[in-house]
Amino acid sequence: MKKYLSEILENEEFTTDIFLVSAIEKIAKTGKKYITGEVLDKTLKLKFNLWNIENRTLEKNCYYSFTGKLEKYNNSFQINLFKFSKKNEKNIDLLDFKKSTDLNIENLYNDLLNILSAIKDPFYKFLADEIFVKNEDFIKNFKNSPAAEKVHGAYIGGLLEHSVNIAKMAEILVNFYNEFYFFGKLSKDLTVIGSLLHDIGKMWEYDYHGALIKTTKKGELLGHIYMSSNLINDLANKYKAKFPDCDIDEKLIKLIHLVLSHHGKLEFGAPVVPKIPEAIIVYHLDNIDAKMINFLSNTKNAVEEFTDRNFVHENARLYNIFLDEKRRINYES
Ligand SMILES: [Fe+2]
Ligand SMILES: [Fe+2]
Repeated sequence: MKKYLSEILENEEFTTDIFLVSAIEKIAKTGKKYITGEVLDKTLKLKFNLWNIENRTLEKNCYYSFTGKLEKYNNSFQINLFKFSKKNEKNIDLLDFKKSTDLNIENLYNDLLNILSAIKDPFYKFLADEIFVKNEDFIKNFKNSPAAEKVHGAYIGGLLEHSVNIAKMAEILVNFYNEFYFFGKLSKDLTVIGSLLHDIGKMWEYDYHGALIKTTKKGELLGHIYMSSNLINDLANKYKAKFPDCDIDEKLIKLIHLVLSHHGKLEFGAPVVPKIPEAIIVYHLDNIDAKMINFLSNTKNAVEEFTDRNFVHENARLYNIFLDEKRRINYES
């Protein structure tokens, strides 16, 4: 049975397939040359050292069968690599390397449909159905899309999860502020559809290439803020005539404003800052969800008490609240 990196115990000798992220030659204090780098599978990224290099080379961005031992050094785990052989991508099950959300993708999609079923505004409902219900290929792509290369939700289902998370929290916040302060003036429909669509352009921004998520050419040159707003604008203009009695322009401007302002600040890539309460909610929830999912991804399978410095959290070293629950705590005994 395939053994994933997160299943290997301290001092266990193992053989498993990995993807080589990096490998560089270094010289130890003793003057001995060695190769060090990082490997990953869908569960974990680990450092490795190859002490006996004997003219052997390792090529990054390739798959290998690794035989080694997992050892603890300075409170972190690394592989002491004994043997390796390169593997052809054809002989690799890529699903062993593509990460996926821990949540059930079909359940998340059903949650999205439930949220949509509560939208009353005919224009927003029509847009939501066009995008999230009618086009099977589109839905399949959406369910598979990551939310980022690295920062948060960098896995299959990451975009769906992030969008649904924000929509669920948005419902709660709109209800709260409407009840006590805005007396029904906040549009739940706008906030919810804006939450679901704010990052929709990420479908074309990122792509899995083997074990790595990469930014596409469209992603680099256009970015998801433009691609999200463009999709909405195109659809709205195409079907405008269907809604003669409805003030589409006002609704469209507000929805596009939510998309354009969701990064909150000009220096974070937002062409405008949030100027209506619904956009303020989406901006803050986007930030919260990105940070919480980033925290989870960096701590859940990690074995150290503190993470490396993390730019998403003001360069903080995050405290791993999961450590006590891990099997690795047994190593201490
Ligand atoms: Fe975004
Ligand atoms: Fe987002």
